[in-house]
Amino acid sequence: MRSRWRSTLVIALFAFLGACWAALAQTNATVADRVYSEAQAARGQAIYQAQCRACHGAALEGGLAPPLSGADFLRGWNGRALAQLADKIERTMPASNPGTLSRAQATELVASLLKASAFPAGTAELTGDTLGRITLVGPAGGRPPGNMAQVMRGILFPSSNLIFNVQNVDPGEQKVGWQPGGPTAFSWVDWGAGIYSGWELVDYAAVALAESAPLLLTPGRRCENGRPAPVERADWVKFTAELAGAGRAAYAASQSRNRDAVIETTNQIAEACLNCHEVYRDKPGGTTTDPSNKAARCY
Ligand code: HEC
Ligand code: HEC
Repeated sequence: MRSRWRSTLVIALFAFLGACWAALAQTNATVADRVYSEAQAARGQAIYQAQCRACHGAALEGGLAPPLSGADFLRGWNGRALAQLADKIERTMPASNPGTLSRAQATELVASLLKASAFPAGTAELTGDTLGRITLVGPAGGRPPGNMAQVMRGILFPSSNLIFNVQNVDPGEQKVGWQPGGPTAFSWVDWGAGIYSGWELVDYAAVALAESAPLLLTPGRRCENGRPAPVERADWVKFTAELAGAGRAAYAASQSRNRDAVIETTNQIAEACLNCHEVYRDKPGGTTTDPSNKAARCY
């Protein structure tokens, strides 16, 4: 009886160890393990030169868009599966024409990016199957999820627009339960638009502006062109303080539920945006491929 128990235990132990080993073998590969071939990287490089270099630079060094090689690029992808990088490329790039690359092309582009960051080539090619099991390695530390332009577009743009709209629309007229365009309306504000009253929306937009100042100071945040945002420069810090001040003023005005008072703070908000944009965003000397001169931003 005892020995039967023991052998069952031994068998179970071996099965368990075997499963662990299989799991390790599946997840242990990294980009250092010769996971792509030279030929595959060359095919990716040809696509890169035709469709990516205008924004990311001839040598992947960045330009209008961030670099796709080197320490800063790898820091953002450290510890993530190559499949995520392929997804990013296949579904969102080229940013001017997303959704036009096949999975095979995205995989070839991944191979060319690995080569550009000096990971060694081998004889096997990357495939849809292996992408998910190979991990990228780079410097630790990571990056905040958004670049500066994304934070601006996601938080500051909608919030300040909502407050600017008080010039045209009386927030007191929008009650809880209001349904813009009916139940099928789809925009980034329509869903849930009836949950808070108009005045509450102004409150929250003002709070978003006031609270966003520290987000503009997050260390490691980059601008869209890959340049580190100048978060430690004295004038940048001053501009973010002006933004926080404008947000506080708008919140105080909104709390008074006085439309004219809010309208007055819109000047202060617009100025807070403008003062920083004049120095760090709106650079003269745009070209036909880069009319707003994104490559020169954040200097
Ligand atoms: C019109 C300009 C433009 C073109 C063309 C373009 N990109 Fe991008 N790309 C961007 C911008 C802007 C970002 C930063 C915002 C983002 O991550 O989506 C970016 C980000 C990326 C990232 C993420 C970088 C990181 O550090 O996280 C990858 C990878 C990438 N692009 C690959 C490509 C590839 C491959 C091509 C060609 C098939 C391409 N891009 C073409 C503008 C462009
Ligand atoms: C402390 C400086 C600073 C302040 C304050 C600031 N911005 Fe920006 N903004 C920038 C920079 C720099 C960029 C370019 C970022 C990039 O390229 O990644 C930018 C870009 C933008 C963009 C994207 C434009 C484009 O070309 O895609 C929008 C929208 C924007 N800002 C809105 C606002 C609004 C609205 C405010 C005020 C409520 C504001 N910003 C306040 C520095 C600032």
